[in-house]
Amino acid sequence: MRPVQIKEGIHWVGVVDWNCRNFHGYALSSKGTTYNAFYVEDEKRALVDTVPAAFESQFLCSVSQLTELEKIDYIVVNHLEPDHSGCLARMVELCKPEKIFISPMGAKSLATFFDCKDWPIVIANSGDEISLGKKTLRFYETKMLHWPDNMFTCIPEAKMLISSDAFGQNWATSERFADEVSKEKVTDLMAQYYANIVNPYSPKVTKTIEFLESINLDIDTLCPDHGLMFRGEDVAYACQKYVEYAEQRTTNKAVIIYDTMWKSTERMANAIASGLADEGISVRIMNVKANHHSDIMSEVFDAGAVILGSPTHNNGILPGMADVLTYVKGLRPQNKIGACFGSFGWSGECVKILREWLEKMNMEIIDPNIKVKNRPDHKSYEECYELGREIAKAIKIKNA
Ligand SMILES: Cc1cc2nc3c(=O)[nH]c(=O)nc-3n(C[C@H](O)[C@H](O)[C@H](O)COP(=O)(O)O)c2cc1C
Repeated sequence: MRPVQIKEGIHWVGVVDWNCRNFHGYALSSKGTTYNAFYVEDEKRALVDTVPAAFESQFLCSVSQLTELEKIDYIVVNHLEPDHSGCLARMVELCKPEKIFISPMGAKSLATFFDCKDWPIVIANSGDEISLGKKTLRFYETKMLHWPDNMFTCIPEAKMLISSDAFGQNWATSERFADEVSKEKVTDLMAQYYANIVNPYSPKVTKTIEFLESINLDIDTLCPDHGLMFRGEDVAYACQKYVEYAEQRTTNKAVIIYDTMWKSTERMANAIASGLADEGISVRIMNVKANHHSDIMSEVFDAGAVILGSPTHNNGILPGMADVLTYVKGLRPQNKIGACFGSFGWSGECVKILREWLEKMNMEIIDPNIKVKNRPDHKSYEECYELGREIAKAIKIKNA
């Protein structure tokens, strides 16, 4: 894509990755993604962020349409992750910048990514500024949102905030702004991105938004490093969504995550779902073989209850369940009700193990954990149905 002017003297020089379906090798990105980078022209010229190394030629082509590369004075490294720093070494070589701005934590890690001993590094402490002439670049450290080195770059005169991975969405589009596409879709993709990447750092999100409010940062353009950018009223909208996501509010929804070999556990899942649905709870039944762990996490994100099912397999649970649970636990979902169930043949460790997972995720467990030997009979179906109803009542009380 050609550069896109965002404000006078400020251009988007990112790339659109139409074919990305597996974001960073672990999260679904079924609509592709973008890597946003920015060129700011004033008396001094600055580049904020780069793109993955695989897109180097597109990136060079884009920046070169706006300036000769040697005329770039400053490079800002908001984030060292390779999707944003992939062309950094090449840009340093070609631009020979006077200064490279990076956060204190970024400076500590830089040499573990690049051979950078001769680079003109300037450590940007939170609040530090550099004048470009009429415009200023001001840096805010956002440690652990979502890596230790992350920072935001603000251009106060342009009322613009470049927010690194925060507020991102994985969506490859020819449009650059959220107001040019469906708001519902961009919100959904922003929530998916949050659930699968930002969620563990929710306390940091809350603090960052409180900090930006405390300094009365006057922003009308919010530019994440992935997906659509927000302008006008959409800036407050995106910030409000982040406030809500960080609170990890739950809805009257339950997710049943399960695996099965011979369908006994699946039948139990269906009976639990009936009990939940009859109490007015919206249910998602998600077999781990039919659903990617990203999609499961996106549903877990706002669910009131997470219900786990697995048969006993070699004195444990099925490997697909362990895989999904490792992923979900790492993303630290909060405020959930939990329950578990499963079928077994002889030793029956499944529910004990599933319960331990629920405990590790600090879920409020609804008893009983239901364990059925081989095939569920009429009584077991009744027990599963009743468990569903009990979970539903607990969700409603919690969300009341
Ligand atoms: C390879 C294999 C290993 C199993 N290991 C155990 C086990 O260690 N302990 C146990 O109680 N049952 C074990 N079972 C029995 C299953 O738990 C039992 O068949 C159960 O009803 C399957 O539930 P499903 O229909 O949901 O797959 C095993 C079954 C298979 C096929």
